[in-house]
Amino acid sequence: MTDKPVLTSPVIDGPVADASVTDVSPADKPALDIIDPEQPVTYAKRIKSFVIRAGRMTAAQREGYTKHFGEMGLTLNSGMLDFNGIFGNDNPVVLEIGFGMGKSLVEMCQANPGLNYIGIEVHTPGVGKILRDADDFNVKNLRVFKDDAIEVLAQCIPDDSLESVQLYFPDPWHKARHHKRRIVQLGFVETLRCKIKTGGTYHMATDWENYAEHMMEVMNEAPGYENIAGKKEFHPRPDFRPLTKFEKRGESLGHGVWDLIFKKIN
Ligand SMILES: C[S@@+](CC[C@H](N)C(=O)[O-])C[C@H]1O[C@@H](n2cnc3c(N)ncnc32)[C@H](O)[C@@H]1O
Repeated sequence: MTDKPVLTSPVIDGPVADASVTDVSPADKPALDIIDPEQPVTYAKRIKSFVIRAGRMTAAQREGYTKHFGEMGLTLNSGMLDFNGIFGNDNPVVLEIGFGMGKSLVEMCQANPGLNYIGIEVHTPGVGKILRDADDFNVKNLRVFKDDAIEVLAQCIPDDSLESVQLYFPDPWHKARHHKRRIVQLGFVETLRCKIKTGGTYHMATDWENYAEHMMEVMNEAPGYENIAGKKEFHPRPDFRPLTKFEKRGESLGHGVWDLIFKKIN
C-alpha cells in the first residue's frame, strides 16, 4: 500500500511519455472518501486531457474544500450513483465536465432550481472555490467530484441517466502533436451518449476555431446524435450559458466563440 492518496484511471488512449504519471493497481484505492486536497493524486498511465497545475489553494478555497466537501463532494468510492438518493428528489441531472473555478456553474444552479447539477474538475483550487461559493449562495442542487471525468463516467454515472452534459471551453491543446490530449474524441462522445437519456443534449463551447472544427468532425462521425442547429452548423450562443472565466479571457484576446449542441436520438 502507498501512504498517499492514489486514484486509478483506465487506459483509454494508450501510453504517454510523462514521468509524473505512475501506474497503480485498484488495490491502492484510498479507503477514505475525504482526502487531503493538497496531497498529490496519481492517475494510471494513459493520455490525459489535463495537467495538474502547480499552485496552492488560497485559505478561502481550502476552507471551502475542508468544510463542504463532506456534504457536497462525491468520490469514485461512491460507486454507481443513485441520483434520487443523493439529491433527495427526481429532478433531471446535468453534468458539467471541467468547471474550472465554477462561477458559471454556480450561476446555473441558482438560475435552475428545478435541475440537479454534478460538476467534475481535477483542479483542486477550483473545487475549493465552487464549494465555498455554493455554500455562500445557499446552493442545494450541486454535487462535485474532484476527479478525472473519464473515471467518473466509467465508475459513477449510470447509463441513460443524464438530461444533459456540458463541456465549456475544454483545454484546446493547441499544438498538433498534443491534439490526442483533447478530451473530445470519438470514444469519449460515445461514452457520453450512453450516459445521456434519449432526447437529452450534449453541449460544447470553445473559443478555439480549430477545436470547434475538430468537435464538429467528431460529432459528425459519432452515431446516435443529431445537431440541433442543422447538419455541420454551429449553434448561436444560448442565453442559458453564463459567461465563463475562459470565455471572458478568450473575448479579451479577440477570440470568437463556437457553441455546438447535439441531441441524443438513440
Ligand atoms: C480551459 S479550462 C475551462 C474552465 C471553465 N469551463 C471555463 O470555461 O472557465 C478547462 C478545465 O477542464 C479541466 N479538465 C480537463 N480535463 C479534465 C478531466 N478529464 N476531468 C476533469 N476536469 C478536466 C481542467 O482542469 C480545466 O480546469
